[in-house]
Amino acid sequence: MMVYDLFNQLALEIEDVAQDLASSGLATPILRVADCGCGNGFSTLSLLTVLSAKQVLGIDQNSDAIRLAKATLECLRSSARSIAPETHKCKAVAGFFAALSRDPVISFHVGDILTGEDLPNDQDLVYCRKVLAPIHEGEFNNPIDGPNAVQVALEILSRTIKPTGHLLLVEKKARDFRPFLEKASLNIVRTAYYERGDIGTKGRIVLYKTRYVAYLCAKD
Ligand SMILES: C[S@@+](CC[C@H](N)C(=O)[O-])C[C@H]1O[C@@H](n2cnc3c(N)ncnc32)[C@H](O)[C@@H]1O
Repeated sequence: MMVYDLFNQLALEIEDVAQDLASSGLATPILRVADCGCGNGFSTLSLLTVLSAKQVLGIDQNSDAIRLAKATLECLRSSARSIAPETHKCKAVAGFFAALSRDPVISFHVGDILTGEDLPNDQDLVYCRKVLAPIHEGEFNNPIDGPNAVQVALEILSRTIKPTGHLLLVEKKARDFRPFLEKASLNIVRTAYYERGDIGTKGRIVLYKTRYVAYLCAKD
């Protein structure tokens, strides 16, 4: 990907994450945020931008995804000074540069929400988007899938947030996660439904919208 493509994708991802957070009604400030199942890391960098967090952590079980996320961050960081001024006019990208200038701690590492391997336990917010439904469907070669895997993941995710912290779970609206959340002793503070065009290789898909559900949860 060319650096301009990276910035275009980041701008769209920031829009999505901003919508997820605004819909959840989550009160800021958030100092520490972890993105569990972060994939290529754009959602992690978007959380940094929208929340102005001091520490952001992207975790994924796929080491290739983590390598890509690190490379993307380095590429965006190193172009921060050389990028053409018109790019700064994009509010989202300007927000990313502003967040970077506050010198946050940004890290990506391999970790597993089904085994608990290398997960934190002190986060103000844990964001988990489009991870549990695919795990349920057995899409990522995890050793378990189905309802049991969702339950195990939620029990483990609940341990990654500090006692006053929150979990924000965002999924396509095809499955009801409330019974799993209740069983994991996670209080649903707010449930929000909305739709948006997904991000494709050529930008946002405008002809077809996907319906999402976001659950903001606190510990019991
Ligand atoms: C559909 S992608 C979503 C990526 C990102 N959250 C987003 O919304 O763009 C699902 C991600 O979950 C990760 N994943 C699957 N099982 C996992 C596990 N047990 N622990 C951590 N990450 C996992 C996959 O490697 C993949 O990167």
